[in-house]
Amino acid sequence: NRKITTAKIGEMKGRGSIVSLTAYTKPMASFMDPYVDLIIVGDSTGMVAYGFDSTLPVTLDMMIAHGAAVARGAERACIVVDMPFGSYQESKELAYRNAARVLTETGAQAVKVEGGLELVETVEFLTSRGIPVMPHIGLRPQHANTLGGFKAQGRDDDATALLIKEAQAFESAGAFSVLIEGVFEKAAREVTEAITVPTIGIGASPACDGQVLVTEDILGLFSDYTPKFAKKYVDLSAQIKEVFAEFEKEVRAGSFPSDEHCFGLKK
Ligand code: KIV
Ligand code: NA
Repeated sequence: NRKITTAKIGEMKGRGSIVSLTAYTKPMASFMDPYVDLIIVGDSTGMVAYGFDSTLPVTLDMMIAHGAAVARGAERACIVVDMPFGSYQESKELAYRNAARVLTETGAQAVKVEGGLELVETVEFLTSRGIPVMPHIGLRPQHANTLGGFKAQGRDDDATALLIKEAQAFESAGAFSVLIEGVFEKAAREVTEAITVPTIGIGASPACDGQVLVTEDILGLFSDYTPKFAKKYVDLSAQIKEVFAEFEKEVRAGSFPSDEHCFGLKK
């Protein structure tokens, strides 16, 4: 069994080499499966695939559909599905019911929840009842309305101390890993040193035990909103537009379809 479990991810602490990307669909998951340890089915799909201007409108049913698609494409990587806004904050019981649906209906291994100390009891409730959890601290897009937009976190000593306190509380609550988004290097480093489970960073410096990026960002497939940390490795949007333009040209010129793409014509 080549499947990477959450326990295996937990053992990868301290090497700075956990590789992670987001995926929402089966083909993308299968393309990345040989190269990544962890696939995060992010609620960022709301922004990059659905055109919402935040992650808030994403529903549990959407996450389950995407999680199941990704699970069908990834046989090796550990799969973590985002719990969407409103599906876990209200009570630990509601969180359990919805997280159990995510695991049973998708085949993913774990869920991710955004929060701080208010969420520790929920994480403990889930992990002690068989649901691996990755808490997401620092810049939490589901909290954009209360955090005042998308701003880097952990700027000063007080903010850093709070992040450390949150990470330690989540570790004690049984989290197998902690995701840290958009924080200053010092905060990421101190949080990573303060806990024995791995930190996965996005916009959180090389000090973390692993790195994740949004796949559409690295492929140049999403540019409505581009954070500083989103490195674009290729501009696939440009290549896709070229193909569409070529198809248009061939259809209008009558050169597509040619004989090889037609039934009932000899080559
Ligand atoms: O939704 C998302 O893509 C995320 C990333 C930080 C992995 O939460
Ligand atoms: Na997310």
